[in-house]
Amino acid sequence: VSGSPRARALVTGAAGFVGSHLAEALAAAGRDVVGIDSFSDTYPAAVKERNLARLSASPGFRLVRGDLVDLPLAPLLDGVGAVYHLAARAGVRASWGAEFDRYTHDNLLATQRLLEAARDLRLERFVYASSSSVYGDARELPVTEEAPTEPVSPYGATKLTAEHLGRIYHRSYGVPFVSLRLFTVYGPRQRPDMAFHRFVRAVAAGEPVEVYGDGAQTRDFTYVGDAVAAFVAAGAAEGVVGEVINVGGGVRIALRDAIEMIGEIAGRAPRVSTRPKARGDAAHTLASIRKAERLLGYRPATPLVEGLREELRWVREQAGFSAGR
Ligand code: NAD
Ligand code: UGA
Repeated sequence: VSGSPRARALVTGAAGFVGSHLAEALAAAGRDVVGIDSFSDTYPAAVKERNLARLSASPGFRLVRGDLVDLPLAPLLDGVGAVYHLAARAGVRASWGAEFDRYTHDNLLATQRLLEAARDLRLERFVYASSSSVYGDARELPVTEEAPTEPVSPYGATKLTAEHLGRIYHRSYGVPFVSLRLFTVYGPRQRPDMAFHRFVRAVAAGEPVEVYGDGAQTRDFTYVGDAVAAFVAAGAAEGVVGEVINVGGGVRIALRDAIEMIGEIAGRAPRVSTRPKARGDAAHTLASIRKAERLLGYRPATPLVEGLREELRWVREQAGFSAGR
């Protein structure tokens, strides 16, 4: 039955950055899609409404507004074949201090509740959006799925714990859980707290970009279209249940070199303003994507320069939108 294209898909976090793109891709492939989103306060609801604009024209898509912790989930899971669980509080640097209860609520309680609701159903797949942050400062790069998991941020600790919950519900109840460890996803609709969104917007506006630390940190950046392709494949492929799989772009770049690239694309020399290094940031990330290639037929298709062009185009469109043009 795995991946039967007619079964309904449930996408949590469907009004968010990655979730809205995934829901669009599933709906475009002819799937019935139910989206759930709480419109949590990490960034403005109006931005999430815009993320949903294209989906609302899709006859197979329905959005349920509410919190996974409070919603009656059984009726929402009725007739669902695959769950794609992307709802979370996703900021790394905001996860210190008083906000942490929001991370336990959105990343742990919400996940536990969804797994409980799924445990006695005959789901085909439960795909979880995990994170490179579970590795922390990896000792060897590229990092493979067998590397030790030693998060360096409270956020990373919640993503790893949620992944353990999935593994536990798989082991004890047979929930068909698969975990995709995403590496810094970017592109149109990227969250406003994330580096490229802020950098592209600043350069386009002729304002300085704020760099945390010396800009020598490196990241494996993943274009959102590639991440979506990995989710779609993980919802359908045989032989992935119980696995954790890295999803990266397959190359890494220093932040300061990425800023140069943004300047070249925007046709404007970036000005840099240096801020203290952020606590909880991994110094370097790079995914080994061999397992994704093998199990998902995954192959990143969008090089950084092209993906950044798409993000710049989108930021300019949004600027036009806010100015009422
Ligand atoms: P996002 O904030 O844009 O989307 C998450 C959505 O989940 C939001 O719209 C939010 O309102 C919703 N949500 C949060 N808590 C909820 C709850 N309790 N009930 C219902 N809805 C809730 O974030 P994103 O960048 O699209 O990230 C999506 C997922 O991918 C997250 O799980 C994140 O941890 C993971 N991830 C993201 C990246 C990245 O670079 N963006 C990298 C690795 C992993
Ligand atoms: C991203 C996502 O935000 C997380 O949700 C996700 O779990 C994580 O990727 C992952 O790979 O698992 P991060 O790598 O911190 O986290 O993504 P960015 O916000 O794009 O930051 C990249 C680098 O730029 C970091 O070193 C950050 O400190 C830096 N940065 C960010 C700045 O220098 N200036 C800024 O204004 C923002």
